[in-house]
Amino acid sequence: MRADTLAAEVEMRFLRPSPPRVSNAVPGDLGQLLVLYERAWGEPADPLSEEERERARPAAEDIAAWFRGGLEVFRLTHDQRLMGAVRCSFPSGSCHIDNLVVAPDLRNRGFGRALIEHCLARGRRAALPRTWAQVDARLKVAGRLLLSAGFQETGRHQTSDRRTLILFEKRN
Ligand SMILES: CC(C)(COP(=O)(O)OP(=O)(O)OC[C@H]1O[C@@H](n2cnc3c(N)ncnc32)[C@H](O)[C@@H]1OP(=O)(O)O)[C@@H](O)C(=O)NCCC(=O)NCCS
Repeated sequence: MRADTLAAEVEMRFLRPSPPRVSNAVPGDLGQLLVLYERAWGEPADPLSEEERERARPAAEDIAAWFRGGLEVFRLTHDQRLMGAVRCSFPSGSCHIDNLVVAPDLRNRGFGRALIEHCLARGRRAALPRTWAQVDARLKVAGRLLLSAGFQETGRHQTSDRRTLILFEKRN
């Protein structure tokens, strides 16, 4: 192989962008997480009222509390940019997923799926028998995503403010 071809190949290998990766979020991510949730709920994929979107958005104090124990927050990053996040909690020996978001300009590319798969793998590693999530019935994209990741709808209930929540479950 010619030296200049080899040099070009080596350069390409080192300059090739690293793929997005899911890892544990840390308290230092708080600022970026806050911006991500603000943007994600500012431009939702499904129709919710402005007040509901406001309520869905965690405040800085909420996110800070997530890091004080008992919960795990996963982030999807690419070249230092925070592109998505999800939170797992572990009530009664199960894995509960919530606060799933992907940045609006990066949706529908499989990143939401990657975050869900990471939570499922986390539950399996801890030998937890089931992973579940509760989703507003109007959040069709999230519902479809859970079904395509192997979750099943196991129930529905109405909240006092007349929202329908769907319970999705997957056996690990
Ligand atoms: C829900 C959300 C996290 C999905 O993230 P995403 O990166 O777009 O999801 P993916 O690209 O992994 O797509 C997952 C599935 O949804 C489908 N999908 C994604 N965006 C879609 C859209 N706008 N319209 C139709 N289908 C869509 C994909 O085709 C895919 O289905 P498949 O696996 O059968 O092919 C993202 O839309 C979001 O942040 N929404 C606002 C916040 C929210 O609703 N969070 C959920 C609260 S529980």
